[in-house]
Amino acid sequence: MVVIPVISSKGGVGKTTVAANLCTALAARGQQVFAIDLDPQNALRFHIANDPHACDTGLVDAATGQIPWASAIRPAHGGVMLLPFGDVDDERQIVFEQQLARHPTWLAETLARFALPDGMLVLLDTPPGPTVYLQQVLRAANLCVIPALADAGSFATLPIIERMVDKYCRPRPDYAGSAYVVNQVDPGKRLNHDVFEMMRQRLRPELLGVLHLDQSVPEALASAVPVHRYAPMSQATQDIASCAERLLERIAAARQAPSSMESTR
Ligand SMILES: Nc1ncnc2c1ncn2[C@@H]1O[C@H](COP(=O)(O)OP(=O)(O)OP(=O)(O)O)[C@@H](O)[C@H]1O
Ligand SMILES: [Mg+2]
Repeated sequence: MVVIPVISSKGGVGKTTVAANLCTALAARGQQVFAIDLDPQNALRFHIANDPHACDTGLVDAATGQIPWASAIRPAHGGVMLLPFGDVDDERQIVFEQQLARHPTWLAETLARFALPDGMLVLLDTPPGPTVYLQQVLRAANLCVIPALADAGSFATLPIIERMVDKYCRPRPDYAGSAYVVNQVDPGKRLNHDVFEMMRQRLRPELLGVLHLDQSVPEALASAVPVHRYAPMSQATQDIASCAERLLERIAAARQAPSSMESTR
């Protein structure tokens, strides 16, 4: 398996959008995809679940032994398997987070125990900032997808997430590097264009691609379907397809490397 968390230090930059749409784009390219919602917002379901309203139980219930793991998994668009976070009240969430804080490698160990099929891509949505969820995914990641907006605020906070990746991921031989997605790019806006250019220079060669500002993205969410299903000819659909293809190239290149991503798993 290849563990691919979608992370950022800033909120609202498109993590859930990118995670959800990469899942369905990768599945459309023949990949087996397991989508895990590790964000208490439990919002990944609204983008890809076949039935978003049937995702009230999930990861927390299974992790705390209330339901079997198999019954926490839901079918999602394009054959993706979705493990929702579940609807969890504040008290259970705090207890769960305390457990994660005490056992920082819980996710890595749990994924290893699942014994998923060879080559399966495990994408994880996360909440923003330095949370226990970020601590967990950084210890399990083979490749981090990092969305950032083409604005000064996002640019300024890039070093925060980079430091975390440098600390927990890069020293591991099974880490294949980061993959940045610059989101809500709007070439018509001068400042946005200038910041995008700065990001392009700075993030190369780890820039995966761009996702243009496109109304079909929020409209697809409002219709509870992936963007390519809602607007197959849109700019956003093209952008996501290109990111998915580059991601597969990165994974294939990492598998060829001497210290392969899967060598330690
Ligand atoms: N390329 C885009 N064009 C237009 N709207 C977008 C684009 N990307 C994301 N959005 C919108 O921006 C909002 C935030 O996106 P999203 O929920 O994916 O961010 P997030 O990083 O997951 O947020 P959070 O930190 O709260 O988890 C959503 O309403 C989404 O539809
Ligand atoms: Mg989100």
